[in-house]
Amino acid sequence: MYKRLLLTAAIGGVLMGVAQAAPLVVGFSQIGSESGWRSAETKVAKQEAEKRGITLKIADAQQKQENQIKAVRSFIAQGVDAIFIAPVVATGWAPVLQEAKEAKIPVFLLDRMIEVNDPTLYTSVVASDSVHEGKVAGDWLVKDVAGKPCNVVELQGTVGASVAINRKKGFAEGIAAAENVKIVRSQSGDFTRSKGKEVMESFIKAEQNGKNICAVYSHNDDMAIGAIQAIKEAGLKPGSQIKVVSIDGVPDIFKAMMNGEANATVELTPDMAGPAFDALLALKKEGTQPPKFIQTESKLLLPDTAKQEFEMKKNMGY
Ligand code: AHR
Repeated sequence: MYKRLLLTAAIGGVLMGVAQAAPLVVGFSQIGSESGWRSAETKVAKQEAEKRGITLKIADAQQKQENQIKAVRSFIAQGVDAIFIAPVVATGWAPVLQEAKEAKIPVFLLDRMIEVNDPTLYTSVVASDSVHEGKVAGDWLVKDVAGKPCNVVELQGTVGASVAINRKKGFAEGIAAAENVKIVRSQSGDFTRSKGKEVMESFIKAEQNGKNICAVYSHNDDMAIGAIQAIKEAGLKPGSQIKVVSIDGVPDIFKAMMNGEANATVELTPDMAGPAFDALLALKKEGTQPPKFIQTESKLLLPDTAKQEFEMKKNMGY
C-alpha cells in the first residue's frame, strides 16, 4: 500500500512538473542609478517581477550605451524570453535590436524612446509623454509668474536622451506665448545631483550672482535638489527668490517643498516594468500583441500635497 502511495505521488509530481510552465526570464538593461527615480524604477521592477513569478536579470550599464548593447547581446545569447531596455540615448540601437528580432526575442523599452526607421525592431514602449511633462512645467511657471518678467535657467538631462530632448521641447512650447518668460541659459546636468549643483553654480555666477534668475527648470528632481543647494550656498532663497520646477516626484523634492524650497514637480511613475510584464504575459499566454505605446500618467504636484506625497513615495519603493 505504502509503495503504491509513493508511486502515485511520484507520478503525480512528474505530471505536475510537466504541466507547470517554467517561469519567464526577462533580461533588463538598466541605465544605472543616476537619480532617485532611476533607483526606484529598478527596485519596483524587482518587486513587480517577483509578484508575477518572473525571473528578472538586471544589468547596470553605468550610463553607457556600449554597456547596454553588450548586455542585450548577452541576454540574446542566454535565450531569455524578453528583453527590457531603458535606453540611455535615443540613437544607435538598430543593429542590436535587429539581432534580438532575428532571435525572436521581444524587446520592451522602458521610460525612454529610441529613433529607429523600423518600428518592428521593438515590441512596445512603456513611457510617459515627455513633451507633455515639459509643457506642464512651462504652463505652471507662466501661470505662477502671472505676467511678471522671468528669466529661466534650464538644467537639461543626459545629452541625446529622448526625455531630455522632449522635456526641453515641451517646456519651450509651454512658455512660447509668454513674452515675459524666457530661457537665458541651458546646459546638461546629466540627470545627477552633483552635476545639477555644479551647473547651477555656473549659472548663478554668470547671471549677476543669481539676481538675474527668476526660476530654474530642471529636467529631473535630482538636478533640482543639487540646484537648490547651489542657490542656498549663494545666499539666495530657493522657492521664493529663485523658483524651482522639475520632473519626477522623488521624496526629496517633496521634502524641499515642505521647507518652501521647491515649487512644483511633474510626477513620473517609477513603475514602468509592471505594465511591461503584463503585456509580455498576455503576449506569451494568449498571443495578444501589446500596444506599441503604453503611456503612463504625468501629474503636476504642488506644495499643498507635498506631505502626503512624501509619505506615499516612501512606501512605494523609493
Ligand atoms: O528617463 C527618465 C528619467 O531618467 C528620469 O526623469 C530621471 O530622473 C532619470 O534619470
